[in-house]
Formats: sequence, structure tokens, C-alpha cells
Amino acid sequence: MTVTATATAPSPVLCARQVRADFADAGSAIIHALDNVSANFPSGHLTAIVGPSGSGKTSLIHALAGILVPQHGEIAFGSTVISRLNERQRDTWRLAHCGMVFQDFRLIDELDPLSNTLLPAQFRRARLPDGLRERARELLAGFGLPLRAGPVKALSRGEQQRVALARALLLDPPVILADEPTASLDRENAQRIADALRALARSGKTVVAVTHDERLAALADTVLTMKSGQLIETVARPGVSE
Ligand SMILES: Nc1ncnc2c1ncn2[C@@H]1O[C@H](COP(=O)(O)OP(=O)(O)O)[C@@H](O)[C@H]1O
Ligand SMILES: [Mg+2]
Repeated sequence: MTVTATATAPSPVLCARQVRADFADAGSAIIHALDNVSANFPSGHLTAIVGPSGSGKTSLIHALAGILVPQHGEIAFGSTVISRLNERQRDTWRLAHCGMVFQDFRLIDELDPLSNTLLPAQFRRARLPDGLRERARELLAGFGLPLRAGPVKALSRGEQQRVALARALLLDPPVILADEPTASLDRENAQRIADALRALARSGKTVVAVTHDERLAALADTVLTMKSGQLIETVARPGVSE
């Protein structure tokens, strides 16, 4: 696997402290998407989040990224309390620190794989830094995606998912938040992605992956189980990273 990640000093711990996030459904009943969730996501760890559909997994990933602001509790990255920043500050923090793989990918349909992969850099700078285009190509090739000129909407879902992952890794972020990153992949590519996420954690990144994939969960240092918005089980699996 050719995911290049620079080993650096350990990042601050990403953590959720007593986080509550409520939504109102169409009939204005309150849904507790996150109900008093507390957890630490240390650097160098691959944390898997499992649980049935609707249990709050995506909400937790979005809260960790500062996309969803909890009504109670806080999200912090070291001394930075992300959930207290304003929207613009949270966007800036996310761009500098988080690589996101969204459950629905959020690629730009009309752009080709390379342009989609380069999007985070476009948000950050007017001109692409030297070498970034090459890194994007390498990431795509590393995930088994030959360069294609056409729009990503012409690709299979499995291919789109891997473009989303390449994009998340472009700027070598310290935190990688991936929502079901192997859900659309065949066995071989799912294993490839699971191994890449494991390797990124080993290189010192904070890696959090929502997953239904037992092979990915088996590579995690910690498996968190959610149910009805609550974190109901935390299983640490010492030695998994050795
Ligand atoms: N934007 C939203 N508006 C209303 N309800 C939402 C919204 N996002 C999530 N929910 C609800 O919150 C609960 C948790 O959703 P989610 O975090 O997506 O769960 P999971 O990822 O485990 O399937 C579900 O009941 C879902 O319907
Ligand atoms: Mg989800």
C-alpha cells in the first residue's frame, strides 16, 4: 500500500465529553442522536464505531469533525474545544486537521477523480503547492484507481468511495474520520482500505472509522458500540497494533 504518511509527534487527544445532540423528526418528536456520549480517540489508534442503523454513529463522526454542534457537552482536540468555536473557525479547524470520508462520499459529480482528490487543497490555497498533484495521483493509484479523465459520476460506487478516501488523505491530516469507508467495496479493496487505515494509525494518526465490516473492526485498537444514541460498550483490544 502506498499511502504515505509522515510520522510526527503524537497529536493531541480528540475527545467527546458528555455529548448530547438532539434532532426533531418530521412530527417534531425529539430524537436523541447522541445521548451523553464520552470517549477518547487517541492518536496512533484506530477506533471502530459499530452499532445498528440509526444508533448515532454518523452523528458522532460529524460531532468529532465540528460539523454537528452538540446541545450539551463538548468536543475537544487537546486544548481546543471545537464545539465552542464559531462555524468559520470550525471549518478552518476541520480543513487543517481532519480528513473526512462521508457516508455519501460528497464528491463533486462533474469533476474527475484527480480534481475531486485535490479539492481540499483548492479550498485552502489559490495555487496548488508543488507535489500535491503528484501525491493525489499516488493516492489514487495506491487505492487501485487508474487515472481517468471522466467525471466521477461515471465511476462505480466502490471507485467513488476510494476517491473519497484519497481526498481525505491528500493534506496528510492528523485526524481521519471515515464513515463506513469499506461499505461499497469488494473484498479485496475493503481489505486494502482496512490495511491502509491500520497503517495510518500506526504512523501516529487518529483514525476513527464507522463500520459494519468485521475485518476492519478486527484491526481496531478499540471498538465502540452505539445503540439508540448511547455508547453502550467500549472494548479495548491491546496488542492489535503490534
Ligand atoms: N439531520 C437530521 N435530522 C433529523 N434526524 C436526524 C438527522 N441526522 C440524524 N438524525 C437521526 O438521528 C439518529 C441517528 O442517526 P445517525 O447518526 O445517522 O445514525 P447511524 O449513522 O448510526 O445510522 C437517527 O434516528 C436519525 O434518523
Ligand atoms: Mg450512518
